[in-house]
Amino acid sequence: MRSILVTGGSGFIGSNFLHFVLARRPDWRIVNLDSLSYSGNRENHAGLEGDPRFRFVHGDINDRALVDELMRECEAVVHFAAESHVDRSILDPRPFIETNVLGTQTLLESLRRAGGRRFLHVSTDEVYGSLPLGDPESRFSEETPLNPHSPYSASKAASDMIALSYQHTFGLDVLVTRCSNNFGPYQFPEKVIPLFVTNLIDGEPVPLYGDGLNVRDWLHVEDHCEALLAVLERGKGGRVYNIGGSNERSNLELTHLVLDIMGRGREMIRPVADRPGHDRRYAIDARRIRSELGWAPSRSAWPQALAATIQWYVDNERWWRRIKSGEYRTYYALQYGAR
Ligand SMILES: NC(=O)c1ccc[n+]([C@@H]2O[C@H](COP(=O)([O-])OP(=O)(O)OC[C@H]3O[C@@H](n4cnc5c(N)ncnc54)[C@H](O)[C@@H]3O)[C@@H](O)[C@H]2O)c1
Repeated sequence: MRSILVTGGSGFIGSNFLHFVLARRPDWRIVNLDSLSYSGNRENHAGLEGDPRFRFVHGDINDRALVDELMRECEAVVHFAAESHVDRSILDPRPFIETNVLGTQTLLESLRRAGGRRFLHVSTDEVYGSLPLGDPESRFSEETPLNPHSPYSASKAASDMIALSYQHTFGLDVLVTRCSNNFGPYQFPEKVIPLFVTNLIDGEPVPLYGDGLNVRDWLHVEDHCEALLAVLERGKGGRVYNIGGSNERSNLELTHLVLDIMGRGREMIRPVADRPGHDRRYAIDARRIRSELGWAPSRSAWPQALAATIQWYVDNERWWRRIKSGEYRTYYALQYGAR
């Protein structure tokens, strides 16, 4: 039996990863270490709680004694835990440094002492900065220099470099993945797709930043999970792997599609002042993971995959309504109230 430590498995991608892996690797055991920050939700893995192969540990990745204890039980670490929302990093960068930078270093230091374990650091295409709109052929490769622009992406870039430095200096078996924007079930409704869908269910307008022409490359979360599993099992230590869907859409195009699928008109769009420092375009060159590991997305095609995701939020109203009634209201008022 393989024993894996997952950090941040109560969030969006981490919880999808737990379900994805336990369904496909019957002889794996997973311990999920998560502090249940505002975006962590135990309901995301409620269906696994009776499974003897799964254990939830409520704790912080900066708790070194706890991390040391869990590290002894596992053979590999998949590290999702992070502060993950750009807008919150603009409101208050500090937690991003504490979790994304210091938390990652705490895990690596524990790993260094324990030795002999594989560490998969889950990162983002945002570390590369921004591409121009006028050059549609340009893409981020693994060799593109890092040029992060937000406190969020800067903290992720720092943690990527620290992780790789532990491979280079201490010989640890570290891999880094950099993925484009994910969509799918269990995404916290501050992120654009569940935000728009849940607002529309409530008959509220959708706040669209600036001119809406910023472009993102959308990948279904299960395609991301499949890529992570491939990298964990077959990736070369010390490597960076870009992961992307070749599914570029402007925010305006995304908004129109969501409105069309939900049968709502363009009058539901509320233009709001742009995000400061808003990156214009992200696009991923995923040739390395395709050629080395044979991975390709199979669940990300639009409009079907987007419509299925929208349907999940329609069918799981209880899940998001509870979230939207708590701390979220204060955040929403602060973020969009005066824009
Ligand atoms: N969402 C995307 O589109 C996307 C794309 C590429 C990469 N990523 C990366 O994937 C990872 C997961 O992203 P997500 O969208 O699932 O985020 P999320 O915000 O939904 O989940 C983050 C999880 O980490 C936990 N956490 C936060 N601080 C912690 C701490 N100090 N100790 C323990 N647990 C802590 C939270 O409770 C939560 O469960 C992040 O590292 C993010 O940078 C996300």
